[in-house]
Amino acid sequence: MNESIAYKLLLDGIYQKYGYDFHGYAEGSFDRRIQQLLITYRMKDELDLLTRILREPDFFREIIPFLTISTTEMFRDPGFFVAFREKVVPMLRTYPALNFWIAGCSTGEEVYSLAILLKEEGLYDRSLIYATDINHSSLEKAKEGIYSIENVRSFTKNYTAAGGNASPSEYYTADYNFARFRSSLRDNVIFSDHNLVTDESFVESHVIFCRNVMIYFKKELQARVFDLFYKSLSDRGFLGLGSKETLRFSPYESCFDVVDSTSRIYQKNPILHQRLKI
Ligand SMILES: C[S@@+](CC[C@H](N)C(=O)[O-])C[C@H]1O[C@@H](n2cnc3c(N)ncnc32)[C@H](O)[C@@H]1O
Repeated sequence: MNESIAYKLLLDGIYQKYGYDFHGYAEGSFDRRIQQLLITYRMKDELDLLTRILREPDFFREIIPFLTISTTEMFRDPGFFVAFREKVVPMLRTYPALNFWIAGCSTGEEVYSLAILLKEEGLYDRSLIYATDINHSSLEKAKEGIYSIENVRSFTKNYTAAGGNASPSEYYTADYNFARFRSSLRDNVIFSDHNLVTDESFVESHVIFCRNVMIYFKKELQARVFDLFYKSLSDRGFLGLGSKETLRFSPYESCFDVVDSTSRIYQKNPILHQRLKI
């Protein structure tokens, strides 16, 4: 069978059986992950994989983190947090209450990082963080806040590089090979299922982080997500994309002011939006 037909049947089958729509994901990288799965599970081709996915929901749950790429770490790309601390936090101090949305939070490291930063900046008590992902097992892990000692090593290194001003060990208790992050860091966090492909806006946010997620999306899907973020942001709200993603060349480029061009932090500008014809 023509490979592209097999690929399409696989995506159609996953969508029909589980409601996950991967048609808008960049084909090159998604197909590479599929090829990797075929090798790992010693399967002949995409149709073999589809058959197993359709017959075994547990198998599908097992491979989702691989298909959607769940790689993350505490204070990932520390420069992003430095820029956020220096350029956005001073403006947030004027707000009496703040909503944050971390879209594609994976296993939660980015959420704990933001909670720590907000605590240190004296903003945590007036903040609510919505942390969302499509991957249920990642969300469960995020709620637990228990990470391996290797994760904690990168936490210590990144935390300092991100401008952290306390001892990193204040934020967790070590337990043999694991570290349990303090439950107070999730007191103001709501973890929830949300699919950027199909779901709508659910809260007005002052800040949205969506890093290392849209690089896996095609341009059309990226445009849908920018539209969703634009609608979800309050006037003059902030969008943090990180160094790998950009608003450039998107129809929404002209609706935002650039706050930090390296870390790709933007601020919604409703006046610019009026000039946009989408
Ligand atoms: C590479 S991780 C990035 C995690 C974190 N934002 C970071 O930068 O370290 C990508 C995350 O996006 C999530 N994701 C992929 N497609 C998604 C979608 N359609 N809706 C919501 N989350 C999605 C994956 O499940 C995964 O947890």
